[in-house]
Amino acid sequence: MSRPLLFNAFVMNTASHIHHGQWRHPDARQHEFDDVNLWIDLARTLEEGLFDAIFFADVSGLYGPAGGQYVDNVQEGLQIPSNDPAVLLGALATHTKHLGLAYTSNVMQNHPFNFARQVSTLDHISGGRIAWNIVTSTQENAARNFGLPALVEHDARYDWADEYLEVVYKLWEGSWDEGALLRDKEGGRFADPAKIHKIFHEGPRYKVEGPHLPAPSPQRTPVLFQAGGSARGTRFAAENAEAVFIITPNPDVARDQIARTKDLAVAAGRGPQDIRFFQGLTLVVGATHAEVAAKEAEYLEHASVTGYLTHASIGILPDGTRLPDDTLLKDIPNNGGHAHVEWLRRATPDREPTLADLAGARLRNAYFAGTPDEIADHLEGWQAAGVDGVNLMNLRLPGTYQEFNERLLPTLQRRGLAKTEYAEGTLRRKLFGTDRLDERHPAARYRGAFAPAAAGAGAPAR
Ligand SMILES: Cc1cc2nc3c(=O)[nH]c(=O)nc-3n(C[C@H](O)[C@H](O)[C@H](O)COP(=O)(O)O)c2cc1C
Repeated sequence: MSRPLLFNAFVMNTASHIHHGQWRHPDARQHEFDDVNLWIDLARTLEEGLFDAIFFADVSGLYGPAGGQYVDNVQEGLQIPSNDPAVLLGALATHTKHLGLAYTSNVMQNHPFNFARQVSTLDHISGGRIAWNIVTSTQENAARNFGLPALVEHDARYDWADEYLEVVYKLWEGSWDEGALLRDKEGGRFADPAKIHKIFHEGPRYKVEGPHLPAPSPQRTPVLFQAGGSARGTRFAAENAEAVFIITPNPDVARDQIARTKDLAVAAGRGPQDIRFFQGLTLVVGATHAEVAAKEAEYLEHASVTGYLTHASIGILPDGTRLPDDTLLKDIPNNGGHAHVEWLRRATPDREPTLADLAGARLRNAYFAGTPDEIADHLEGWQAAGVDGVNLMNLRLPGTYQEFNERLLPTLQRRGLAKTEYAEGTLRRKLFGTDRLDERHPAARYRGAFAPAAAGAGAPAR
């Protein structure tokens, strides 16, 4: 019997997140993303399906070359318009009991003092179900939205994230000691000043005095998600993340990446079991192969070549001009570095693939279609490679997740690949059996670090 996998629903507060063009299908409701009831209904559906978390992606700007046109982004509804997931989670928290509420926030978009306060507030409202997907942003337009002349260089963005984490860890873990909140009506003391500390952070980018304004929330630090794929990103994840998102093409690649990340985590003083690995997958389920084929054909019919290519910034020249969909990949400048182009060439040896082929390949990236038992076999393959959970992409909202509940979950439960009830408690308790970060995590070093006995009264502590 297999172990139960973890399941996240990977979504975004927008019409077209990953699978572009699908919002046009008559049954799709993602075009109503600005109606809070769509999300409340979806969150309830996810709880019925015992999902571990709803996981919101987010961006702070447009895809594509800076200064380029954004006609296609807008016509496709490609992550514009999009609404703030953090605000939405406040509503979802009050309509759910068990579902983890995960959202993405990049280090540019919010000052760490304010971000730490926002997260603590959400963690209070939700009873300890918040997770944060730490990203550094890849969009030039996002950098310009925050007054930067250009995106900071790739590895330097992770150095920025390191300091950002240092600030929020200090606020979440070190600023308030246990027992600082009294709410003592008779004594007239709301909180104990001896147990609440300024953090006096001073670093290259931030100077934050503290104390943290919220009292400790159930998890203090939210469950930390990360999705770095580069060498620097993997090291960052190994040092900090509790859940790592991968979108690998097959279990062998996943096995390698998981082993590498675990080795780095151990080198950083953490344990090999301190990180859960989630593979992103698109699943198409049907009772028979004929039904599966019919559904695939319908998805393909609605898929938008332009949407996929715009999202991937492929086939667009630096001035924003779009190349025709039948352009051969060999005629596109600077395409040599893309692994998926090389893979596509090998998959079509008789002819040079085109941009349109590439879009079809992106629909089928990390994708599996089959009967419930075939999907269960497929998931067992990922599990054998060390994957702990699935980040389930959607083709249609709420259809993808309703189908999961009705057509896939019973088979997965029967085969031991999905749980049959929620555990009680915070998100971290459900995932790791404890409300707070373990002692091996780098944030734990700030516990008690700012108390006068540890640091000298009022002295800066780093
Ligand atoms: C499942 C998954 C979800 C992601 N979600 C976001 C997101 O919401 N916003 C964002 O800016 N980047 C997102 N990314 C991109 C990553 O943060 C990161 O930039 C990317 O994986 C490249 O990593 P690297 O910079 O270490 O090479 C996501 C990546 C993956 C695999």
